[in-house]
Amino acid sequence: MVNLGVLVSGSGSNLQAIIDNMEAGRLDARIKIMISNVPDVFALERAKKHNIPSLVISHKEYKKREDFDQKIVETLQAHRVELVVLAGYMRVVTSVLLRAFPMRVMNIHPALLPSFPGTHVWQAEVDSGVKFAGCTVHFVDEGTDTGPIIIQAVVPVYDDDTAETLNARILKQEHKIFSQAIQLYAEGRLKIQGRRVLTEGFPKAPDAFMINPPAKIFDR
Ligand code: GRF
Repeated sequence: MVNLGVLVSGSGSNLQAIIDNMEAGRLDARIKIMISNVPDVFALERAKKHNIPSLVISHKEYKKREDFDQKIVETLQAHRVELVVLAGYMRVVTSVLLRAFPMRVMNIHPALLPSFPGTHVWQAEVDSGVKFAGCTVHFVDEGTDTGPIIIQAVVPVYDDDTAETLNARILKQEHKIFSQAIQLYAEGRLKIQGRRVLTEGFPKAPDAFMINPPAKIFDR
């Protein structure tokens, strides 16, 4: 059973998926503390409803990012957190957090990294003309969305997509792969080798299985 600390800044739909998977007995983890850096977000209501300890630590009360992160670290450690999960956490984390939890901070990003790091991702994906988009769970390092990749899911981009429709399609996959990444960690299957995260003893994904738009008459 892995002790999680979840950091959020918003709606918390990824948090909800993790809670649902824990409650269904599919995920060998428990949330020891959920921290929001923003007051009054919906994630706080979700935590309350499921009896998950939660609190607000506002970054606005700290002049330096490092001091804010120090408070976060102290709080996580006080709750005996092993793995830190950034679930829609809209703050850049500093080395203060990363040193306290080396390769034990996971983030979800709504793109197939290393393409489309940063923010405003869905519009950028639509505008770029890519035929596939997706999401990535990765360990956090000192860069922005640059850490070792644990798992990715792919979705097609359609001609009539907007940022909103693409966001919704990707979010559905986020809700699956975040829990999967945490479960792989819980099972001790994640082996980090340089930039690569290997999932030992886990089934391989099938060979190429998506073409967009589909190659209908050549599909033999
Ligand atoms: C998701 O798009 C995630 O990829 C990004 O922030 C959003 C969080 O959504 N990091 P939610 O708060 O989990 O609903």
